[in-house]
Amino acid sequence: MKYGYFDESKKEYVITRPDTPAPWVNYLGSPEYGAIISNNAGGYSFAKSGANGRILRYVFNQFDEPGRYIYIRDNENRDYWSASWQPVGKSLDTYKSECHHGTAYTKMKAVYDGISSEVRYYVPLDQSYEVWNLGITNDSDRERELTVTGYAEFTNNSNYEQDQVNLQYSQFITRTVFCENRIRQMIHANLDKIENGKEIDHKTVINRFFGLAGAKADSWCGEKEEFLGRYHGYGNPKGVEDGVLNNRGNYNENGCGAISTVLHLKPGETREIAFLVGMKEDDEAAEIVAGYENTEEVCKKELEELTAYWHGKLSHFQVKTPSKEFDTMINTWNAYNCFMTFIWSRAASFTYCGLRNGYGYRDTVQDIQGVIHLAPEMAVDKIRFMLSAQVDNGGGLPLVKFTHNPGHEDTPDDASYVQETGHPAYRADDALWLFPTVYKYVSETGDTAFMDEVIPFANKDEGTVYEHLKRAIDFSMNHLGKHSMPAGLYADWNDCLRLGKDGESTFVAFQFYYAMTILRIFAEHKKDTEYIAFLDENQKKLGNLIQELCWDEDRFIRGFTESGETIGKRTDPEANMWLNPQSWAVISGLADEKQADCALQQVYDRLNTEYGAILMDPPYHEHAFDGALAVIYNAGTKENAGIFSQSQGWIILAEALRGHGERAFTYFMENAPAAQNDKAEIRRLEPYCYGQFTEGKDSPNFGRSHVHWLTGTASTVMVGCVEGILGMRPDLYGLRIAPSIPKEWEMFEIDKDFRGCHLHITVKNPGHAESGCKKLFVNGQEMKDNYIPQTVLTDETDIELIMS
Ligand code: GLC
Repeated sequence: MKYGYFDESKKEYVITRPDTPAPWVNYLGSPEYGAIISNNAGGYSFAKSGANGRILRYVFNQFDEPGRYIYIRDNENRDYWSASWQPVGKSLDTYKSECHHGTAYTKMKAVYDGISSEVRYYVPLDQSYEVWNLGITNDSDRERELTVTGYAEFTNNSNYEQDQVNLQYSQFITRTVFCENRIRQMIHANLDKIENGKEIDHKTVINRFFGLAGAKADSWCGEKEEFLGRYHGYGNPKGVEDGVLNNRGNYNENGCGAISTVLHLKPGETREIAFLVGMKEDDEAAEIVAGYENTEEVCKKELEELTAYWHGKLSHFQVKTPSKEFDTMINTWNAYNCFMTFIWSRAASFTYCGLRNGYGYRDTVQDIQGVIHLAPEMAVDKIRFMLSAQVDNGGGLPLVKFTHNPGHEDTPDDASYVQETGHPAYRADDALWLFPTVYKYVSETGDTAFMDEVIPFANKDEGTVYEHLKRAIDFSMNHLGKHSMPAGLYADWNDCLRLGKDGESTFVAFQFYYAMTILRIFAEHKKDTEYIAFLDENQKKLGNLIQELCWDEDRFIRGFTESGETIGKRTDPEANMWLNPQSWAVISGLADEKQADCALQQVYDRLNTEYGAILMDPPYHEHAFDGALAVIYNAGTKENAGIFSQSQGWIILAEALRGHGERAFTYFMENAPAAQNDKAEIRRLEPYCYGQFTEGKDSPNFGRSHVHWLTGTASTVMVGCVEGILGMRPDLYGLRIAPSIPKEWEMFEIDKDFRGCHLHITVKNPGHAESGCKKLFVNGQEMKDNYIPQTVLTDETDIELIMS
């Protein structure tokens, strides 16, 4: 079943049926001011933190309310509806709607009883407030009088939890007043006479506003209960039914912003108005609202700027292949998903309120990889930030606080850090993610000087980027387990696998092996011969050890527990086959060809399903060891044999690195949201963004997906596709092109900006190969293999690769 379609020309997903199986949402704004909005206008806004900077309320787990509602009432017959299908929810026989989710904006169109409307929701570029720009047209042949009411439900407390459950406090610090064209909500208004600098218990007055521009505010209401009316709901607010609001603010209980304006529309006439929401002092709020008097002109310009900004970012890498699902994901939706995850980390969604007060180390370092080919300048800033959160012993801070102060932070070795963040110890993998991320950045840009940039450590001292990476190697070297493989510490990538402090994880061992390969490339560039010898010796040792201990006939095991138990053996009754050790054995370059192909075949035979490969099999149930936390999940769910989507990216990459284009593409298609556009009743999640996982074959809801948008899947699948399937493999000195594609693709094209040059790449495959390169031409000149040294690139470079 499908509910909408991709409009690639506008980079929009258009929802044509509003009764989607779940709220299908979009992200607006920036870390300064974030807004999440569903196809029925449900959602919330926040400044900086979804948990601690909450401005608009949203009730989790309660369908999809409240939201940014605009009600329209015909004053002749008193019928009313909303500009989004919900909350009024008119019969879909008479009410037609379309929701266009675009890059950082959402447009809601509705047609009902001769009135058409379009609301454009967005946060203007570089601003920290939101705009709901309504265009409303009288399509009927008689003059109409309409009361249009905007409703924004403020939280009473910026802290989401306090707002929801501590009403004995939060309801008594809020009040709203009206001024000219806006409602002003004040929290802690009683502190207005307390001198600056003498904050009471860190509390000051907080001001929010809900304003109207482009029309006169004819009536208003600043109290939720007054607006909705007892025993009414968002679908039939008393204030809307009455056609006029009671001009009362709140003093205690629940504040809100509701403003009505009465519009007279002649046949064919259109009016443009805008509602504005933000957290601003009153004078600034007044200025903002005043700035929208020429509503149509201002909003049009702002939307154009916003679109140009995002489309500009996406334009740095565009593909044209025979697969429209692949194209729409790579060109628009996976790319935009990567940016959202990059910007928000795991901050806020409809399934997570952002209580974690900072950035997870591994998540954030991985997320960076998804935008390097599109916005290396954004990526490198975040890389610097994450390097500055590396402790001088080389380990990463498991949680990097939003208030991170490089050089002055406590570490997991300090009780204060543990108490503040709830993270009791280092994790084995955190700093190891830096290697592929830094390498991808330096290779994309050729910015080898970055290696010498000096960056502080989290707690004390500083060092060059090169030194930071060496310390990460030291960290793993200094934390070895019983077999001298990297120790499990608190956890590896899998949060639900606690092998114990001295346990050992093959995933981390592969990461460590790979890290040494990468650092060796940098060491060679720096001619650091002594360090090269050190790396060679240790990598060889580690490689032999892994081969000796971890290869179990046809698969790599998952690791050893502290007490010496082997996890992931062939003969284990449960969890005897794991996905990540197989893909990472290949990605790390450790597996020999035979092992690689054998392990990948096992994955395909044992773990693959029509929605992607499950994380392990069989799920834990009866035989979970102490650290197998995944057993708490229903079988087939999340880390307990769910299709953990992030891992799809790695299996795509692994297959592609082996030249198995068919397999790589199969894994892509199985879990690609766009490829499930007509299976919405099964997938449920948005068909344009990734989720954390899909329920596996052991679940009765096989194929249903969860935890939308903010997921490491965005970046790993992007890397799997760009570096793997499309074969864009830059190194320090140029670009290797090594596609691994489905045989049936006869041709594809890429437009890529690379180190100041624009590359137009055409790949031809008349012989239907899955991988390989017969000939490569750069501006007509034949190269000796599939590598393009940077020196031959020109401003406009034409590249032609013949695969077969
Ligand atoms: C979640 C966590 C991530 C972890 C993954 C697997 O996505 O955010 O840190 O690696 O689960 O457990």
